[in-house]
Amino acid sequence: MGGPSVWPALLSLLLAVATSFFCSAIPIDDARKQLLMREKTMQLGGQLVLTKEEELANERLMALKRAEMKQAMETQKFPPSMHFFQAKNLIEKSEVFNILKKMPKGAALHVHDISISSMDWLVKNVTYRPHCHFCLTRSGILMFKFAYPTPPTPAECSEWILLEKYRKKLYNVTEFDNSLLSNFTLMTKNPEVTYANQDIIWSKFETIFFTISGLVNYAPVFRDYIFRGLEEFYQDNVFYLELRAMLFPVYELNGMIHNQEWSVRTYREVACMFAKEHPGFIGLKIIYSDHRFKNVSFIMKSIQTAMTLRTGFPRTVAGFDLVGREDTGYSLYYYKEALRIPALQVLNCLTFFMLERQIGRVLP
Ligand SMILES: *[C@@H]1O[C@H](CO)[C@@H](O)[C@H](O)[C@H]1NC(C)=O
Ligand SMILES: *[C@@H]1O[C@H](CO)[C@@H](O)[C@H](O)[C@H]1NC(C)=O
Ligand SMILES: *[C@@H]1O[C@H](CO)[C@@H](O)[C@H](O)[C@H]1NC(C)=O
Ligand SMILES: *[C@@H]1O[C@H](CO)[C@@H](O)[C@H](O)[C@H]1NC(C)=O
Repeated sequence: MGGPSVWPALLSLLLAVATSFFCSAIPIDDARKQLLMREKTMQLGGQLVLTKEEELANERLMALKRAEMKQAMETQKFPPSMHFFQAKNLIEKSEVFNILKKMPKGAALHVHDISISSMDWLVKNVTYRPHCHFCLTRSGILMFKFAYPTPPTPAECSEWILLEKYRKKLYNVTEFDNSLLSNFTLMTKNPEVTYANQDIIWSKFETIFFTISGLVNYAPVFRDYIFRGLEEFYQDNVFYLELRAMLFPVYELNGMIHNQEWSVRTYREVACMFAKEHPGFIGLKIIYSDHRFKNVSFIMKSIQTAMTLRTGFPRTVAGFDLVGREDTGYSLYYYKEALRIPALQVLNCLTFFMLERQIGRVLP
């Protein structure tokens, strides 16, 4: 709370209380109670009147919350005070959290293309599909590629290893799968030690996207990945999504590459199919994105691409955004020339339209 619009209300409240202190005969305790009551009605939801059933549901939820807080005091394990990686397990066990999961959320408006499905699924499902290869770059970064036959050795790796064959030779596959999972997530037992500063965690974060892109951008996986992502959000009662998407090339087993229109069309098709099977689901939109370390000439081209895509898919492509680490990337001011392109085009269109009408008036 505390936007500018609250101040006039607060002032008049204080004035009312001050007046009641000096001009009326209500005892000070009652005046204080009234003040607190009136303040409560100014809080979010303060004027909401609950039905009997809602009151009951609220009482139960609050009782669970109080019990969890009491327990946290006793065990000294209070999730809100912990690093998220250490708290996550506890949060998932919390009854309050599991009730919140079932509540309607509406929309997820800030999610990214290749981080909408669980990494467990990538390991357990996607890396088990046929023709999946992996390699380790010289700096130890994992890469994946689906291909048949096995593709030639890439410049940055030793050679492509077929996962199916590799797993057969392993003594402990679970251990290997866990090592893949730890390549796919930031989770670690000692986050404060592992990620001593922002540079380290951003570097790992971006490495993850690089690593999983070879899995997600394989055409059959790409479709399943979107569907699976929508399913996971739907389970949390999210009915609409806006995805920031860089629309990297999606490839087929024979190496054929699809263009960005194909990717947008696929998003639209999968969302449509999903909506048919899932009542209440509203849909998804794409916010075409590019990286904010690219220079202004690149971003100008991306904005043109976003506009072209929007013309082709007006109900699916919602706009443009810049992604990546904000504090080390370029500022919006640096991109001003690029970012003003859409508005200028609208202006040009308007001018053209008005000119046309004027000419129309002059000509018979
Ligand atoms: C992987 O997921 C797809 C659907 O997304 C499913 O059809 C398939 O059976 C799954 N495979 C495995 C090995 O779990
Ligand atoms: C395989 O590794 C997992 C995880 O490290 C471990 O829990 C399991 O006991 C291991 N299995 C064998 C047969 O060594
Ligand atoms: C990533 O996976 C590779 C291959 O299993 C493994 O050698 C490496 O330790 C993993 N990296 C991390 C950070 O777990
Ligand atoms: C933008 O970057 C590209 C490639 O790095 C370069 O060729 C181009 O000259 C740069 N443009 C500007 C305006 O800096």
